[in-house]
Amino acid sequence: MPLLWYLRDIMGLTGTKFGCGIGQCGACTVHVDGVAVRACQTPLNSLDDGVHITTIEGLVHDLKAAWKHHNVPQCGYCQAGQIMQAAALIDGGATTMDAIEDGMFGNICRCGTYERIKKAMMDVAQKRSAMHETENISKTTSISNGEKMATIMDADTSVDRDGGTS
Ligand code: FES
Ligand code: FES
Repeated sequence: MPLLWYLRDIMGLTGTKFGCGIGQCGACTVHVDGVAVRACQTPLNSLDDGVHITTIEGLVHDLKAAWKHHNVPQCGYCQAGQIMQAAALIDGGATTMDAIEDGMFGNICRCGTYERIKKAMMDVAQKRSAMHETENISKTTSISNGEKMATIMDADTSVDRDGGTS
């Protein structure tokens, strides 16, 4: 049984869609341990015990707000798969338009929402890059403060030694 049938028919998680059924459209994309896979092409018995499956219902990601902000969906049918693929790409470190276009290439949208998808993804990618830069700057600052503290402590130590108080 394909994972897609299990999710939709047994678990009742119908957010994941059936499109082509042959791995060509991306409508059925879910995450298996954080990796985007086509659920229509993933036999249930090929999955190891204890793997984590995430569907659109359980996805917590800032892309969802970006999708809303850019009014991405039209009919909506492909969108769960688009967001799941996009989330795996962004979490995997995609930050450039080239990386986004390459990574989203296999997700088909018959309504042609591609430009809005890319805008939403770039928004999130740029915010993440800015956050990483800020984190790096703050790490550098604390390292440099640490170095100053070490220098001051060394100076204190040598004053003590020169003073001959011990
Ligand atoms: S339904 Fe799975 S890729 Fe189209
Ligand atoms: S929004 Fe209609 S198929 Fe993508």
